[in-house]
Amino acid sequence: MKPPASKNIVASISQVSLAEREKRNRHRGCVLWFTGLSAAGKSTIANELEAALFARGCQTFVLDGDRVRHGLCSDLDFSEHSRHENIRRVGEVAKLFSDAGFICLAAFISPYQADRRLVREVVGEKFVEVYVNAPLTVCEARDPKGLYVKARTHKIKNFTGVSAPYEPPLNPEIEVRTDKLSVAGAVDKILGYVQKHFNVRRQASRAKPAKISWQDW
Ligand code: ADX
Repeated sequence: MKPPASKNIVASISQVSLAEREKRNRHRGCVLWFTGLSAAGKSTIANELEAALFARGCQTFVLDGDRVRHGLCSDLDFSEHSRHENIRRVGEVAKLFSDAGFICLAAFISPYQADRRLVREVVGEKFVEVYVNAPLTVCEARDPKGLYVKARTHKIKNFTGVSAPYEPPLNPEIEVRTDKLSVAGAVDKILGYVQKHFNVRRQASRAKPAKISWQDW
C-alpha cells in the first residue's frame, strides 16, 4: 500500500473493537465484490441479496457505480485511469464498511484484474470476489439502459465489452452464470457461501422480498 502523501498522519485507536462490533451484529463483516459486464446483473443480485441478509438481521450496505459516480467519484469518467481511481476509492470505502462490521456489497464492473487484486490486498481475508458472468451477447440483448446501442453507434466511447476491455476473474470465490440461473438462484448460491463463512443465520425473521427477474431494473 502507498504511504500517505502527507507526513504527520498517525492512526487513531478505536475504543470499540471489531470483535465487539461483530459480537453485537451476530455475524462477521466482509466485502462481497461483484464484478462483471454492464447488464450482467451485479446490482440486481447485490440488492436482492442485501434484502435477504437484512431479513436475517445483518448490517448491510450496497455500493454501486451509479451511486458513487454521482458523489464520491463524480469527477471520474470511464478512461482507464479514472476506472483505476474509481475502484481504488471504492475499495477503501468497502474496507471501512467491513471494519465497521458490515457486510458491504460492492457492485462495479471493475474490469481490470490488477484493480481487483489491489482491493483484495486492502480488504484482506474478508474479500469475496463474485464473478457475475453472462456472455456479452446476453448483456447486449438485455441492454436495460440502452447503453450497448449507444456504444455500438459510437455515441458512448470506452464502453466495456465493446470498446474497452473486461478482464474476467481467474480464481473468484464464487461465480454465478446469470444466463443460466434465475436471480433467486444466484442469490441463494451467494447466500449459502456467506452463511458458511461469515456466520450469517439461516432463517429470515422478516418477509422475503418480492421475486424479480433480470429485466426488472
Ligand atoms: S467501472 O468500470 O469503473 O468499474 P462502474 O461500475 O463504476 O464502472 O460504472 C459502470 C456503470 O456506468 C454501467 O453500469 C453503466 O450504467 C454506466 N456507464 C456509462 N458509461 C460507461 C462506459 N463507457 N463503460 C461502462 N459503463 C458505463
